[in-house]
Amino acid sequence: MAGSGTWWKEEVVYQIYPRSFKDSNNDGIGDIRGITEKLDYLKELGITMLWICPIYQSPMDDNGYDISDYCALAPEFGTMEDLDELIAEAGRKGIKIILDLVINHTSDEHQWFREALEHPDSGFHDYYIFREGSKPPCNWRSIFGGSVWEKVEGRDEYYFHAFGKKQPDLNWENEKLRRQLYNMVNGWLEKGIAGFRIDAITFIKKDLSFADREPDGVDGLAKCTKGSRNQPGIGAFLKELKQETFDKHGCVTVAEAPGVPYEDLDEFIGPDGYFSMIFDFRYADLDIASGSEWFKRRSWNVRELGGKIMDSQMAVQKYGWSANFIENHDQPRATTKYLKEAQDDPQAVKMLAAMYFFLRGTPFIYQGQELGMVNFERQSPELFNDISSIDQYQRSLEEGLDPDEALRIVNLRSRDNARTPFPWDGSRYGGFSQSRPWLPMTMEYPVIHAEAQSGVQDSVLEFYKSMIQFRQHGPYRDCLIYGSIRPIESSGNVIAYERQKDDVTIWCYYNFSHTGTQERLPDDAAGAVGIWGNDTDAEIRDGMLCLKPFQAILLKQDVPQSGTHS
Ligand code: GLC
Ligand code: CA
Repeated sequence: MAGSGTWWKEEVVYQIYPRSFKDSNNDGIGDIRGITEKLDYLKELGITMLWICPIYQSPMDDNGYDISDYCALAPEFGTMEDLDELIAEAGRKGIKIILDLVINHTSDEHQWFREALEHPDSGFHDYYIFREGSKPPCNWRSIFGGSVWEKVEGRDEYYFHAFGKKQPDLNWENEKLRRQLYNMVNGWLEKGIAGFRIDAITFIKKDLSFADREPDGVDGLAKCTKGSRNQPGIGAFLKELKQETFDKHGCVTVAEAPGVPYEDLDEFIGPDGYFSMIFDFRYADLDIASGSEWFKRRSWNVRELGGKIMDSQMAVQKYGWSANFIENHDQPRATTKYLKEAQDDPQAVKMLAAMYFFLRGTPFIYQGQELGMVNFERQSPELFNDISSIDQYQRSLEEGLDPDEALRIVNLRSRDNARTPFPWDGSRYGGFSQSRPWLPMTMEYPVIHAEAQSGVQDSVLEFYKSMIQFRQHGPYRDCLIYGSIRPIESSGNVIAYERQKDDVTIWCYYNFSHTGTQERLPDDAAGAVGIWGNDTDAEIRDGMLCLKPFQAILLKQDVPQSGTHS
């Protein structure tokens, strides 16, 4: 279906955190040329599209999510020529590139914000959200802690920031600003990128009454999301954004859009939706109360995980297409989060991978996930780089946790878990760089690295290659990509679903337990055989499938079927 409006359904996306992927000039920081150097690795893995986290000019307070110039690149990442070369080289290998689009806020070092401060009478003042007064206009808490309002030095005036205080929110109510943003977006699309991952986009509309809310923490503040995320009226902005930019280029858009209720999915990702896909965080955050409250931990089990995943799949299927992921640069490693004590068991790691990979939607793989990387437990709070981890540690203490417990909780959730440099080999600094990396490598890097797994049968990396190959080019690709999905009833430690297209039905089973278990197969599946998995041996007795510990298996009736020949 390539060439048609929904070509992106056939992609497998690989997310790169450029600071930590590959350092080409040995200054300890990953860069664009580093990505170009590793295109062969990515090609061999089988992925078809890269999402590169922000590489624009930035003071790096939030590692690039605080942009000070949308049209320039951060010098530590390279030059525009480097980027052109990457786009061209990747293109030659059949790999598309999408960039991160951060348009809810800029850096406070952006020219617009500087102008707004220096010349409050200039048009730039209204590009941001300022309120006059001698105290913060309301008691909302920012995502990275503290008030959403930061005082302007020397004036009785505050500016609004939903995230860090060096990330002032743009005022989307200002039409001139919106036009500037659209021009910038079109400029990037004309460069030949395939589209964007769009950052925090449900934050662009605010409840401008800025009324106090019932405090929900000992700091006397209230989460800002209720008044600054997915607010009524946001649709007009999103529609305009799409019409003025994305629609003109037929590009793919994947929005980070937390707070969208399933009932609203039609507007967001339906046939005329604002975006191609949006990420659903409901199961990614099932271990915590919310993305900004790590210290409120929740216990969960596999049944709940499976339930949340299938609810999401069924809700999205009604209107559109899913963006499936188990890791990203804001999440801990999926191995540690979902597998707990089994995080180092390759069979379990492969099972988890297959479980999300064959859901209906476009799969996203985060760098290092394909090696089965695990969380990095830091021994002291000073060792965190991520602003969110530093804030969550402080808040945990304020909320009454003792320092050990606070450290434990931050370690479980820290965004630094996913941001450690990519381990290419077992040498010093893991082949990432010849110099000490900006963030220490994980403890496991001498064991878990790409070279140790490449070409090694049964490695997690080779499993990912085979999995990607099977979805993209296997005999059942049509069903695995385009087939519908529905949950299959299963016992507590097993997630199971069915994929179906035309006369092909594939039953997928994933055992999250270190013990074997038996599952009753759907009636039409009796007599099916294993076609793929981390162990394709299907033992079926009296309509019961006997699953081995951590087995992942895809089953299908063993009859010649039309539509499977190519
Ligand atoms: C998104 C990004 C995250 C960033 C935040 C503010 O959630 O994924 O990394 O810190 O937006 O831009
Ligand atoms: Ca570098």
